[in-house]
Amino acid sequence: MKLLVTGAAGFIGSTYARVAAAEGHELTILDKLTYAGRPENLEGVEHRFVHGAIEDPDAVRDAMDGADAVVNFAAESHVDRSIAGQDPFVTTHVIGTGVLLDAARELGVARFLQVSTDEVYGSIESGSFTESSPLNPSSPYSATKAAGDLLVSAHVHTHGIEASICRGSNNYGPRQYPEKLIPLMTLNALHGDSLPVYGDGRQVRNWLYVEDFARAIHTVLQRGNPGEAYNVGGPDECDNLTVVRRILELTGNDESLIEHVTDRPGHDRRYSLSSDKVRALGWEPAVHFAEGLERTVDWYRANEEWWAPIRSGEYRAYYERQYGRALS
Ligand code: NAD
Ligand code: DAU
Repeated sequence: MKLLVTGAAGFIGSTYARVAAAEGHELTILDKLTYAGRPENLEGVEHRFVHGAIEDPDAVRDAMDGADAVVNFAAESHVDRSIAGQDPFVTTHVIGTGVLLDAARELGVARFLQVSTDEVYGSIESGSFTESSPLNPSSPYSATKAAGDLLVSAHVHTHGIEASICRGSNNYGPRQYPEKLIPLMTLNALHGDSLPVYGDGRQVRNWLYVEDFARAIHTVLQRGNPGEAYNVGGPDECDNLTVVRRILELTGNDESLIEHVTDRPGHDRRYSLSSDKVRALGWEPAVHFAEGLERTVDWYRANEEWWAPIRSGEYRAYYERQYGRALS
C-alpha cells in the first residue's frame, strides 16, 4: 500500500513507520516537527517527507495525493502540557483531524486509521473499558482526542469514510520524549536528579510496549472493520511508584532519589482496557512489562546521542516550568 503516516517523526509513529516499511509499504510522512518531532527517529526508514501540519489543507493534499490509506498519529501527546495550555491540542486533534478527513473523502482514500488513547474513557476503579464504554475524558488532552474520535465517527456515519479508531494504553520503549514517566525517571536516575512522583504515586497505568502497539495498529488497518473502534491494552498494569522503584534498581540507585511532588490536577487514578476485540483479529502483545522496561532503560543508557540534545534544549526550560527546579 501507499501509506500517508502523519506524526511519524514522533515516538509511536516512527516505530509504526519501521514496521510498515519492513513489510514493503511505500511511506509518505507528514509531520509539523514540533518539539516532539525528531527526523532522526526515522533514520533507516525509506520514506518521502512532507514538512507540514495536519491542520494545513494544502500540506495535507500534497502529502495525501495518491495514498491508499492514512494513519493519523499527529498529536500533542502530553497531558501536563495540555493543562498548561490547550490551544495546540484543539488545533491538532480537532481542526487537524477534520482537515485530514475532508481530504481523505475528496481524494477518495480507501482507508483511514485514527490513533487514539484509552484516556478518552477516563478513569476506572476496577474492571476494564470496552469499545462501547462511554467517552468521559478528564484533561484537555483527552477531551480533544475524544473530539477527534467523534469527528472520525461522524465522517463514517455521514460520508461513508472507511475509518477505524485504535485506542492504546500507555506506551513505553525507545525514542519516547523524556517528558513522559518512564524516560523522565530513567534519565533523572542516570543523572542522579530527583524523581518527581505526582501525589502518592499509586495511580495505575496499563503498560504497552511500543512495537506491540505499532503491530496492533497495522493489524486494524489491514483487518479491522471500517467504522469501528479497537482497544489496545498492554499485558501488565502497574502503579507509578512500583515503576519508579524498578527504574531505580535497573540504574543502580536507591529510593532516596524519590520525591513526592504536587499531584497533577484532575489526575486519572487508573486506566484499563479490554483488548478482546483486537485479539480476535489475531493480535497479541509480545513484550511483558518486566522485559520491556529493562530493554527501555538499556536503550536510554546506550543512546546518549539521542537524548543529550533534547535534555540540553527545549526540554530543560519545560522541566523548570513544570517542576520548579533545574535539571543537573
Ligand atoms: P509524540 O509526541 O512522540 O509525537 C507526536 C508527533 O506528531 C511529532 O512528530 C509531532 O511533530 C507531530 N505533530 C504534532 N502536531 C502536529 C500537527 N499539527 N501536524 C503534523 N504533525 C504534528 O506522540 P506519541 O506518543 O508518539 O503519540 C502518537 C499518537 O499516539 C498520538 O495520537 C497519541 O494521542 C497516541 N497515543 C499515545 C500513547 C502514548 O503512551 N504515548 C498511547 C496511546 C495513544
Ligand atoms: O494512556 C495513554 C496515554 O498515556 C497517552 O494517550 C498519552 O499520550 C501519554 O502521554 C500517556 O499519558 P499519561 O498521562 O498516563 O502519561 P505520563 O507519562 O505523563 O504519566 C504516567 C503516570 O505517571 C501518570 O499517572 C502521571 C505520573 N507521572 C508523570 C510524570 C511525567 C508522575 O508521577 N511524575 C511525572 O513527572
